[in-house]
Amino acid sequence: MIHFFKPKNPFLRDLIPDNFVDIHSHLLPGIDDGATSIEDTACLIKGLEEIGIKKFITTPHVMGEVWKNTRPEIQKKLLATIHELEIPSINIRLKAAAEYMIDEEFRELFKKEQLLTLKENYVLVEMSYISPSIQLYDILFELQSAGYQPILAHPERYNFYHRSLDEYKKLKNVGCLFQLNMLSATGYYGEQVVKISNFLVKEGLIDFIGSDVHHTRHLEYLNKKIVLKNYEYLTPIFQNNFIFDF
Ligand SMILES: [Fe+2]
Repeated sequence: MIHFFKPKNPFLRDLIPDNFVDIHSHLLPGIDDGATSIEDTACLIKGLEEIGIKKFITTPHVMGEVWKNTRPEIQKKLLATIHELEIPSINIRLKAAAEYMIDEEFRELFKKEQLLTLKENYVLVEMSYISPSIQLYDILFELQSAGYQPILAHPERYNFYHRSLDEYKKLKNVGCLFQLNMLSATGYYGEQVVKISNFLVKEGLIDFIGSDVHHTRHLEYLNKKIVLKNYEYLTPIFQNNFIFDF
């Protein structure tokens, strides 16, 4: 009798292609809940480099009263970081965009000034983990009318959608793209998030992938094996990130 065995799940690092561009991280020191110091930034970059990531479009939070990062502040912090770490000489590429919380402040912001995008009009957005953003669909419509292409960060982490999977399809139907966290694929956020990640990748709803690294405990999980049942679906998703190459 012939048995067909599916190969064992790979390590995350085995799926990361050369020249991969990470489009979601919190590497700039002291401006959100990510890296706390320049040493911390260096440590996170080193850890990411060890799993094969050398290009980063890092995305500090811009979140109402909590993280009031402005475009000039983020750009200034980026330049200081590149300078302090002597980044061109260590074979790392670093740019900055932002991860915008979808709320009233954001709605006002994109109407009055240019957002920090991943590339061209691609903008990374997120919601609270407690409930969907108020007037979510109106804001998404207005954002698109202002010329932006929203990419929703870590849709698999919004527990309020876990029992209403049609909401994911509804968001895709109105033109939202989805970015999965690598940490979800290695089990960092628990079994339920793994289950939803499996669903989203299998349904073809995920467009891009990012580390969303904040601290060294995340590095530990980025060094683990993929726990998604449908891990083979991740390969083309990793490739999609090449549109952000720089
Ligand atoms: Fe993030």
